[in-house]
Amino acid sequence: MPDEGRLRRDLCEIGRRMWMQGLVAATDGNFSVRLSEQHLLATPTGVNKGFMSPDEIVKIDMGGSPVEGFTRPSSEIKMHLAIYERRPDVCAVVHGHPPTATGFAAARVPVPTEILTEAHTFLGPVALVEYATPGSEGVPQALARHVKDHNLFLLENHGAVAVGSDLFQASYRLEALEQSAKIAITARLLGGAHAIEQGELAKLQQIRRELGLLPSEESCLAAGDSCGRPEPDETLVARITELVMEALGEERKVMGAG
Ligand code: 13P
Repeated sequence: MPDEGRLRRDLCEIGRRMWMQGLVAATDGNFSVRLSEQHLLATPTGVNKGFMSPDEIVKIDMGGSPVEGFTRPSSEIKMHLAIYERRPDVCAVVHGHPPTATGFAAARVPVPTEILTEAHTFLGPVALVEYATPGSEGVPQALARHVKDHNLFLLENHGAVAVGSDLFQASYRLEALEQSAKIAITARLLGGAHAIEQGELAKLQQIRRELGLLPSEESCLAAGDSCGRPEPDETLVARITELVMEALGEERKVMGAG
C-alpha cells in the first residue's frame, strides 16, 4: 500500500506548484489520489490549494464519505468518484482552472493537441464536457460519457480535469494542456497551425501505444506502491530515447539508400 503520509505531502506539493503556476487561483481546484481499493485522499473544500498542510487532507471512502479528518472533502468529489469508478488505471485526478485552457472551455472550443508532436503523443485528445452546475450530479454525468477514452477534459465554462497513474502524471498533464492551449493561440495569431500529416500522426499514436499512455483496464494499484511519486520516469525517458534513436536510424538508412 502507498505511504499515506507521503501522498498527503504530495497533494500539498501539487497544490503549491499549481498555485505558483497560476493553474488555480484563490480557492479553485481540487485533487485526489487512491490510497487503496477502499479509500481515497482528497483536498478539503474552500481552501487555497497552494497553502494546505498534510493534516487538512481528507480520507474518504469510495462513496465520498469522510472516514478521517476534521475538514470536509471537495465540493466536486462526485466528479472524482465517477472517474475512479470507470477507470481502474487512474490513481489520481487533478482539477484546476488554467487560464488559457479555461478560455477554450468558456469559448467551448477544444484544445487542438493534434497540431503538436508532444501533445499528440503524451496527452492525446482532450474531451469537451457539456456544461453542468459545479458540484451537481450533472458534472459526473456529463464527464462519464468521455471518461473511458480520454485523460484530459475541458469542462465547458468552468475549467479542466486531468487524470493519471499518479498525482505527478495527472498534474503534468494539466500543465502541458495549458502550455498547448497557449501555443494553439499563438499559432492562430500567426495565421493558423499547419496540420501534421495523417501518416505522421499515426506514428505518434504508435509511440503513445508503446509507452502505455492510452487509457486501459489495468488497475493502477495492482503493481503495488504506484500511486505516489513515480519511479518509472527514467524508464520512460530511456524508452523515448530508444524510439527516437530507432527512428533516426531508419531515416539514415533511407537517406543512405537514396
Ligand atoms: P472545492 O474547494 O470545493 O474543491 O471547489 C473548488 C472548485 O474549483 C470547484 O470547481
